[in-house]
This record gives sequence, C-alpha cells and structure tokens, in this order.
Amino acid sequence: MATWLITGGCGFIGSHLADALLARGDRVRILDDLSTGKRENLPARQELILGNVVSSERVEQAMDGVDGCWHLAAIASVSRCNEEWIPSHQVNQTGSIRVFEAARRLGRQGRPIPVVYASSAAVYGDNPALPVAETAEARPLTAYGADKLGSELHARVAAGVHGVGSTGLRFFNVFGPRQDPDSPYSGVISIFARRILDSLPILIHGDGGQIRDFIYVGDVVRFLLRAMERTAPGRAEIFNVCTGGAVTILELAQLLSRLGGQELRIEHGPARSGDIRASSGDPGRAARLLGLRAEWPLELALGQTLAGLAERSQAS
Ligand SMILES: NC(=O)c1ccc[n+]([C@@H]2O[C@H](COP(=O)([O-])OP(=O)(O)OC[C@H]3O[C@@H](n4cnc5c(N)ncnc54)[C@H](O)[C@@H]3O)[C@@H](O)[C@H]2O)c1
Repeated sequence: MATWLITGGCGFIGSHLADALLARGDRVRILDDLSTGKRENLPARQELILGNVVSSERVEQAMDGVDGCWHLAAIASVSRCNEEWIPSHQVNQTGSIRVFEAARRLGRQGRPIPVVYASSAAVYGDNPALPVAETAEARPLTAYGADKLGSELHARVAAGVHGVGSTGLRFFNVFGPRQDPDSPYSGVISIFARRILDSLPILIHGDGGQIRDFIYVGDVVRFLLRAMERTAPGRAEIFNVCTGGAVTILELAQLLSRLGGQELRIEHGPARSGDIRASSGDPGRAARLLGLRAEWPLELALGQTLAGLAERSQAS
C-alpha cells in the first residue's frame, strides 16, 4: 500500500486530495500547522503531524518513508503575503526548499522522493497574452507570486543539482466545498455563495468586468493525482491547471444568484488596488502531456459549492 505525505492537507485543496487518496485505499500522512486549515476537514482517525513546513525536523519526520509528497502548505492570501512579507516568504519559498531538501535526503536507494507542489497563476502577474501559456513571461506583481515563482526556480535546482523530480501546478482560481467563506482572504466564489445563502447583496469591487478562469476542486484533484504519476527523477516540470474559460465577476454573481434561487442584488465597492483585470490560462500543455482537461461544467460545480456550504452551515 502506498503512503503519501500532503503538506497543507487540512486546507481546502489538500483535504479533497486526501479524500481521493483514502478512497482508493492509500495511506495518507498530513503535515499542517492549522493556521488556515481545519482538523475537521479530515476523517476523524486520519494521521496528522502538527507542525510548520519551515521546520526541517518536522518536514523530515513527515517525509520519512513516504512514496511521494504533495506540497500544498502555504500562506495562500495575496494581501497577507504583501503585509507579512518576510514571514510569508519563509513559509511560501523556504518551506518549498525544505520539502525539496527532505525529498533529497530521505529518498531510498539513491532515488529522491517525488514532489508535486502548488504554484499559482499569480506567477504571470498581468501578462496580457491571454490565455496565458507556461511559456509566457512570468512577471509576478505580488510577494505571493514572487515566492511561487521562486519555488519553481528552486524546484529546477532540486532536479538539476540533486535529482529531485517535481511537478509544479500553476492553479488558477480554484473553488468548491470547504473553501472558507469566513476568511477575509477567501476566494470570491465562496464569499458570494455565503452572501447568497444569507440572503445578502453581493459586494463587487470595481465594475465586475474582471475576468477569471475558475476551476473546480474536483478537477484540481485529478490534476494533482496525475502529476504525481508523471513526476520522474531529475525532471522539474510546470503545468497550468485551468479550464481555458473566462468568466466575468458579474456573470459569476448572476449565475450564483440564479442557482441559489435569489434575485440578483449587487453593491459596488471601490476597485481593489493591484487587482488584475483579466486572468485566463491555456490548458493545452497539460492536455498534451498529462492527458487531462477540466471536466466539471461551471454551473454544476457552482451548485455543488452552494450545496456544500449550505450543508456546513446547518451542521455548525
Ligand atoms: N485556492 C486557490 O484558488 C489557489 C490558487 C493558486 C494556488 N493555490 C495554492 O494551493 C495551495 C493550497 O491552497 P488552499 O486554497 O487549499 O489554501 P488553504 O489555506 O485552505 O490551505 C493551506 C494549508 O496549509 C496550511 N499551512 C499554512 N502555512 C503552513 C505552515 N507554515 N506549515 C504547515 N502548514 C501550513 C494551512 O493550515 C492550510 O491547511 C497553496 O499552496 C496555495 O498557495 C491555491
């Protein structure tokens, strides 16, 4: 039976990945500091190592004896990373190096442990070549994007110098059940969904014409699993994880209101500084080399998200 490590496995994306691995009968170990993740996102008896991904001791303890590691732990809030520049750099970039270093040290028979890690569309900044492909220039505008790009560069070093195989996945806007709508840093879909379930107007920053590429967490898990199969010693690859679609924030508000059985009610707030106008990814490389495309239709996935949130509200 395979044993896997997920750093950040108590979080939104990591807990869905854990579910998928457990469902196929694998063993899962999780390293998380519960800073944004929740214990209750995992099955009650799931093994959890409580600790910081910056600690070499904790990471090595967690990595010992595993067949592979998905490294998802990060401070995922762009604004928090801009405010807490150095602490977030330590988690988001030094944490990645810690994982690559442990993968090198704890591999067996000279074969490093394969690593699949979360990068982000934020590495592209406001590159206007939409839909943006992996070959486009990376020019991050935020500390978060810079550290994700830095992690990709260190992944190349890990492969070239130490033979650690890795696959970096540049997630676009991921959504789905368990994304925490109560966090001020949460994704727009979970925030809108919460407002609709509470029968409150939706707050849109700016005119709502901002474009995003929203991908459902169920699809993201498929990419995470497939990426591990492809990861090979000495190779560091990067893929977009996106749909290639483009939806405006206003369209999203309309769709969610309709699915939630509500009349559309919107309040407009000031545009947020640094908000990228349009973001949409090219899924072609992942389709060719991973053999995968996003499959969940947006409406169906939004329906699942609303239902998941409603269920959680009732349970709490
Ligand atoms: N959600 C998205 O749309 C999106 C988009 C692009 C990239 N990503 C990346 O995907 C990954 C998962 O994101 P998510 O949306 O599930 O976020 P999340 O906040 O729900 O999950 C992150 C997890 O990491 C844990 N964590 C944070 N700092 C840690 C530390 N120092 N040590 C150990 N654990 C720590 C948190 O407690 C949490 O469980 C992150 O790397 C994020 O940057 C997410």
